[in-house]
Amino acid sequence: MKSITTHKKLTGLRVLVRADYNISVHKTGAISPEEATRIEKSLETIRFLKKEKAKIIIISHIGRSEEESLESVYAYLSKKIKLRFLRGHIDSTIHEAVAEMKSGEVVLLENLRQDSGEVENKSSFARGLSRLADVFVNDAFAVSHRRHASIVGLPKFLPSYTGLLMEQEIQELSRVRENPAHPFVVIIGGAKFETKLPLIKRYIKIADYVFVGGALANNFFKVQGFEVGKSLVDDKKYNLGSLLKNKKLIVPHDVVVARKNKHINISVEDIQKDDMVVDIGQKTIENLQEILKQSQMVLWNGPLGLYDKKSSDGTDEVLKFLSKHSKKIHTVVGGGDTLFAIRKNKLEKKLSFVSTGGGAMLEFLQKGTLPGIESLKKK
Ligand code: 3PG
Repeated sequence: MKSITTHKKLTGLRVLVRADYNISVHKTGAISPEEATRIEKSLETIRFLKKEKAKIIIISHIGRSEEESLESVYAYLSKKIKLRFLRGHIDSTIHEAVAEMKSGEVVLLENLRQDSGEVENKSSFARGLSRLADVFVNDAFAVSHRRHASIVGLPKFLPSYTGLLMEQEIQELSRVRENPAHPFVVIIGGAKFETKLPLIKRYIKIADYVFVGGALANNFFKVQGFEVGKSLVDDKKYNLGSLLKNKKLIVPHDVVVARKNKHINISVEDIQKDDMVVDIGQKTIENLQEILKQSQMVLWNGPLGLYDKKSSDGTDEVLKFLSKHSKKIHTVVGGGDTLFAIRKNKLEKKLSFVSTGGGAMLEFLQKGTLPGIESLKKK
């Protein structure tokens, strides 16, 4: 795999940059600062290419419907760099506009998923895209777990490179995966138990402690024989017996529940059938902080409480704690809602590395690679 920074001369070359701008846009069309991490983090590669006087053509998807547009992303980006938005499908008008680009100029194309060829990984779609450029840069770590045309198709047609963000993601996540400093603590939260269980099983062998929070913890409560009330829990039956016996696994022992319009902190054994677990409890936070205090490296994916209202005190408190101890504890954190919490608390620069990946981060942490990365290796 080659980094775009190793390319000899980029002046005047048309460089197709795959970014991941798949973010939530407010119904007014605005992008809140909390949602903008992926845009902000894509700027390093764009600025590098601008300095090298390349012609930069940015491509991305947003959402899952063909109706969605990158219009709001364009508005946000244009406050950061000078660029033009080339709207519409990739046709002769787009080709002509690209042909007229000057060195150092930047254009953004419309949502790739407006064409079904992207998700269906059609060779014809990838070939069409490749004709716009001389070089391809994959800087979209966060979507590199998808076998889509702009991820795995494009490297078949163009000399292909990693972007700066992609490089950082691979470097940081490989380090925690393969060579973590000990004591090493892994925190896994959020929902989607089935997707995250393999990760818990993998890291229980590697880490010194694995802390389980968020809706994931409810599955452990259930197997332990506790009431989970109306909390989010997986219907499937899991055999978690040997995990629960493992001393490295830490499950919350107190929680915050929503009960009759009030939030109360109770012990896990006191959860009642009308309660809904919304966060980890204060004692659990303190215990977790004691463990974190001793650690050298922390890997974290997923919020520790219910995040539908974009808030979890447990998540905020632990994030603030880690950022306060960032000189001693190397923290690598990612996942959509966790990213939101980091930006909301303005902690992005205070943590060692913030991954832009959600599903991609989880898959990389499990397998050590992604389809989009493998496609770049074949070049
Ligand atoms: C993400 O946000 O995880 C990526 O952009 C992938 O999006 P998708 O799940 O819609 O393929």
